[in-house]
Amino acid sequence: MTHRITVVGTGYLGTTHAAAMAELGHQVLGMDVDAERVSALAEGRVPMYEPGLEDLLRRALASGRLRFTTDPAEVAAFGDVHFLCVGTPQRAGSYAADLRQVDEAVDELAPHLARPALVVGKSTVPVGTAQRLARRLRDRSPAGASVELAWNPEFLREGYAVHDSLHPDRIVFGVSSAVAEATLRAVYAPLIDAGAPVVVGDLPTSELVKVAANSFLATKISFINAMAELCEATGADVTVLSAALGMDPRIGNQFLKPGLGFGGGCLPKDIRAFMARAGELGVDQALTFLREVDAINQRRRARTVDLAREELGGSVAGRTVAVLGAAFKPDSDDIRDSPALEVAVAIHEEGAAVRVYDPKAMGNARRRYPLLDYRDSVTSAVEGADLVLHLTEWAEFRALDPDAIGALVGARRIVDGRNALDAERWRAAGWTYRALGRPS
Ligand code: UDX
Repeated sequence: MTHRITVVGTGYLGTTHAAAMAELGHQVLGMDVDAERVSALAEGRVPMYEPGLEDLLRRALASGRLRFTTDPAEVAAFGDVHFLCVGTPQRAGSYAADLRQVDEAVDELAPHLARPALVVGKSTVPVGTAQRLARRLRDRSPAGASVELAWNPEFLREGYAVHDSLHPDRIVFGVSSAVAEATLRAVYAPLIDAGAPVVVGDLPTSELVKVAANSFLATKISFINAMAELCEATGADVTVLSAALGMDPRIGNQFLKPGLGFGGGCLPKDIRAFMARAGELGVDQALTFLREVDAINQRRRARTVDLAREELGGSVAGRTVAVLGAAFKPDSDDIRDSPALEVAVAIHEEGAAVRVYDPKAMGNARRRYPLLDYRDSVTSAVEGADLVLHLTEWAEFRALDPDAIGALVGARRIVDGRNALDAERWRAAGWTYRALGRPS
């Protein structure tokens, strides 16, 4: 059965979700307050780099099942199921989440909801938000108690957003009624029929699933990066350690990759918002370990700057440093809390001439940090450089030929911030190869 679905907020999550819902056969209306974004999407242009998303969007537009608008009244009139996909960034000057976009989305939509509807939150929110929003919706909608709220957290990874939307590991429904569950099961029927497992819980549990999952992933990364600190102090090799740990199926090898650590629009702010919320709930002790997770992660950035300094004889001032990578991870143009850019900026501030190249994130990086010297290729970035820093593991960088690159640089020195290059191969080509958590 097809549904009339709306998607409020068209960032990474909302755009992907709207196109995916149309792919499943539903009639979909996407909404955003940003008129420019809405017209770009309506023309089939995705304003960020996400592999496969533009194809999915264009297919949905061509099918006639997806449209976009800026008008909340149109959204309310069109849909029976309304997904909230707006952002919940970190609040300025605080660890807590900034919920203004979520509140505004509800406040704009509610006064137009004149018939029964299901509003479904997908954004990552502090536990307890859904119950508060449910009351707000009831109080502000003409349809009152026949407007119900459910929560359906999204687990998509940037770079794999299309795949993760159409082939989810699990689908989580936080519901307060059997009707809401039945509606969500019908909306996701093609994915459920294809084998996606469904987990049903209440509103607070479903909110917690998302932040707990991201906290676990962040903890796993920081665990191996803490081991990297031990390796650095003892001459051990964290990549060998990680491989051996990962072979234990109880541990598993994913998210056990040591290096510069996690960044992006989710993991860093989610663990902080989770700590802030635990404090409000009077259970801050339960999450104090996340403070360490965050601190370990930040220390990896500082340690990379140390390595750069060490490689250049104690100071980077006046030296030329090529930075390969600006995005927070490969296959994305997202630079939010990017470890690569934080290192680049720190080295720039210490007086180095920093040249940055990234296959996709140059535009975003330049807008955010206009003072760095952006180059349009690896070749141009490394020419005459005293040091090369490999900070985002794009396939293009992993495939570099150390001999060819070596012929361009001023000195064959590289710091591999992602433990992604073949150390032996680079050393064999005469490079001083340094990496986090590995003997030099
Ligand atoms: C994350 C979650 O994976 C996803 O389920 C959730 O919905 C949103 O947040 P994303 O932010 O796209 O997704 O990035 P992810 O692939 O999780 O990587 C996060 C960061 O961790 C990146 O900076 C990456 O480079 C780093 N990372 C990842 C490591 O340093 N080591 C690893 O082993 C894995």
